[in-house]
Amino acid sequence: MRILSGIQPSGVLHVGNYFGMMKPSIELQDQGDAFYFIADYHSMTSLYDANLRREYTRQVAIDFLACGLNPEKAVLFKQSDVPEHVELSWILSTICPMGLLERCHSYKDKIAKGLSANHGLFAYPVLMAADILIYDADSVPVGRDQKQHVEVTRDLAIKFNQTYGEIFSVPEPAFHEGAEVIPGIDGQKMSKSYNNTVEIFGEEKPTRKRLMSIVMDSRTPDEPKSDAEENIAIQLIKHLTTPENYVEEVEKLKAGGYGYGDLKKRLFELYWDYFRPARERRADLMQNQDYVDQVLANGAEKAREIARTVNQRVRKGCGLE
Ligand code: ADP
Ligand code: TRP
Repeated sequence: MRILSGIQPSGVLHVGNYFGMMKPSIELQDQGDAFYFIADYHSMTSLYDANLRREYTRQVAIDFLACGLNPEKAVLFKQSDVPEHVELSWILSTICPMGLLERCHSYKDKIAKGLSANHGLFAYPVLMAADILIYDADSVPVGRDQKQHVEVTRDLAIKFNQTYGEIFSVPEPAFHEGAEVIPGIDGQKMSKSYNNTVEIFGEEKPTRKRLMSIVMDSRTPDEPKSDAEENIAIQLIKHLTTPENYVEEVEKLKAGGYGYGDLKKRLFELYWDYFRPARERRADLMQNQDYVDQVLANGAEKAREIARTVNQRVRKGCGLE
């Protein structure tokens, strides 16, 4: 089974990215042939600062390795090191109905948030389809918000195959068991664009402060909270501890006598412990940039080998060769 996923270098990674995409990707590296890339071409649709792009790209590589991506098992690379993605994106765009892209929520959401409606942003799902199909990927671990893009990919693969013959395999989205949308500190989806994130590798003091600022209602500590499962801190705790500890926290809140201040302190402790090993590995990696560069260079070489083969098959299939 071939697994593939990507993440944009468009900001500092947060725990929503971790639980929605990075953790499932890292777990899957033991179950197949895994390819993970830093989607720097994609980041060009919303980030227009060259130095920042370089910096975020480096950070995504370091963070992914720190969180447990093993370059002996999974291929980690930078998208723009494999230009075949872009050629395939053009080819797919020629069979992509406009309506398919017009229906995409992500485009509509981004425009609603004030991003300018450029062609790259509109055509984003076509490039994403190319990213997936150029590796014959079977399984694509992503957060729920990316499901529609994987469906577009499936539609394009099927349409291309109907037009030119059986060229692509049709991928499936892969969700982590129990993967919900992780809430940010204001209760909306945690997202770089909503200023509500909790960074994976935030500094201790500011992160504690941020978690303590999670929005809660005005019930007193003594009151039993029968809707404990909906509490933002509880939803985050669910991911940061064992199921038994999670149930214990929920029960405590339901029973009453457990104040929100104490709950948030507990959340911080669990967060801090959860990412401790990754934080230590990250400190080492920060001192070892050459190693990180080497991982990306090796990854690009392995990725290109496959992308070239599929590219040849596509070019022959549609009469470019
Ligand atoms: P952001 O919304 O912060 O810009 P991205 O769109 O770059 O995040 O998402 C990168 C990956 O992380 C995607 O696979 C996405 O589904 C996942 N992801 C992002 N935010 C969340 C969240 N709050 N909960 C679950 N998964 C998420
Ligand atoms: N669109 C994804 C995001 O914003 C990133 C991405 C680009 C991706 N190409 C991909 C994810 C291919 C999976 C497969 O998070």
